[in-house]
Amino acid sequence: MELCCRWHWRSLLALPLSLAVAVLLLAAAVPPAAAQMLSPLAGQNSPNLNTTEVFMSVYLDRLLEVDEKNYRHSEILYFLLTWNDPDAAATIADNTARWKAGQAGCDRQCSDFAGNITCCDGIFLPSLTFANAYAFPQDRPSQDRILAVAAPNNSVAWMVYVQVSCYQPLKLQHFPFDSFDLVVDLTLQNTWGPNHPGIRLLPSSAGTTLTASGAGDAVSQWKIDYITLQADSTPAPGQQFFAMASALQSNPADPLGLTTTSAPFLRALMPGVVEPPLQRQNMSHVGVMLAPFGLCCSIGRFAAGCSR
Ligand SMILES: *[C@@H]1O[C@H](CO)[C@@H](O)[C@H](O)[C@H]1NC(C)=O
Ligand SMILES: *[C@@H]1O[C@H](CO)[C@@H](O)[C@H](O)[C@H]1NC(C)=O
Ligand SMILES: *[C@@H]1O[C@H](CO)[C@@H](O)[C@H](O)[C@H]1NC(C)=O
Ligand SMILES: *[C@@H]1O[C@H](CO)[C@@H](O)[C@H](O)[C@H]1NC(C)=O
Repeated sequence: MELCCRWHWRSLLALPLSLAVAVLLLAAAVPPAAAQMLSPLAGQNSPNLNTTEVFMSVYLDRLLEVDEKNYRHSEILYFLLTWNDPDAAATIADNTARWKAGQAGCDRQCSDFAGNITCCDGIFLPSLTFANAYAFPQDRPSQDRILAVAAPNNSVAWMVYVQVSCYQPLKLQHFPFDSFDLVVDLTLQNTWGPNHPGIRLLPSSAGTTLTASGAGDAVSQWKIDYITLQADSTPAPGQQFFAMASALQSNPADPLGLTTTSAPFLRALMPGVVEPPLQRQNMSHVGVMLAPFGLCCSIGRFAAGCSR
């Protein structure tokens, strides 16, 4: 993740002036209504004190593309997030009863492939953002399902299929004999606030195939060797984080300037009203590493004298 960020900064600094101007003009031309896609793992509500761990399982359903020119890769990933919440099942039952009785609406149904069944308003769902997503294609049919097991079990599961295109630096000097770690980097956002001990994001199961059927490689010339999940919880970087990344420092009069305000304050705290004194917060990441990748046909291509 750090590597990716450094690479990104360098390329920004190297932007020729004309391109920088073009970016500004383009930004001004975008109509205000044009919104970007939300994270498919955007959650809701704050956890209660009994929810302190979220487990993440990830399966690669399909590698769709490795774009060696633009250093991007696209895949369909199946996520399963699980946690304990003694309030969830009762809240869903109550919501659903009131909704069915016409006493309340429902903003978040518990699945998006079968309407009018159960209502998951008001339960906690963890909020994860994709740090290196280039796009979430909007034409993929979604499949989102939430289950809550009744007391005394109290476990909750949230299953989501995500199609994502990610960007990252790729080292191609040995192409076509390279292998890469293709990384999908997720950040667990703080939605728990200062009176909660915080949520730990813990890796659980993972696999390189799930429902995609048929023999052979996912993508021409590419073979998936394995998948790993790496989680870390580290203190949000301090004041220096943005200062070092900035070619221009914040205006001293900027009330919450990036280079004059502590970075955890701007990045790691719960959204909304913040009460001083400010707590220093950890940031949780999970990296899904499809690692390493190799060209499955490199030997064959070599023997056949193929080259790019
Ligand atoms: C939830 O947490 C509270 C306090 O931490 C505890 O008293 C209560 O028994 C817990 N509830 C369940 C169902 O575990
Ligand atoms: C949902 O159910 C209500 C009655 O329970 C019905 O009036 C409504 O048309 C249903 N909506 C959909 C999308 O099926
Ligand atoms: C909760 O229910 C699931 C589904 O029946 C079961 O697999 C799991 O072991 C249960 N967990 C606990 C702590 O009872
Ligand atoms: C916060 O990060 C530090 C340093 O990596 C780690 O030792 C600590 O366990 C983390 N705290 C939490 C609550 O995850």
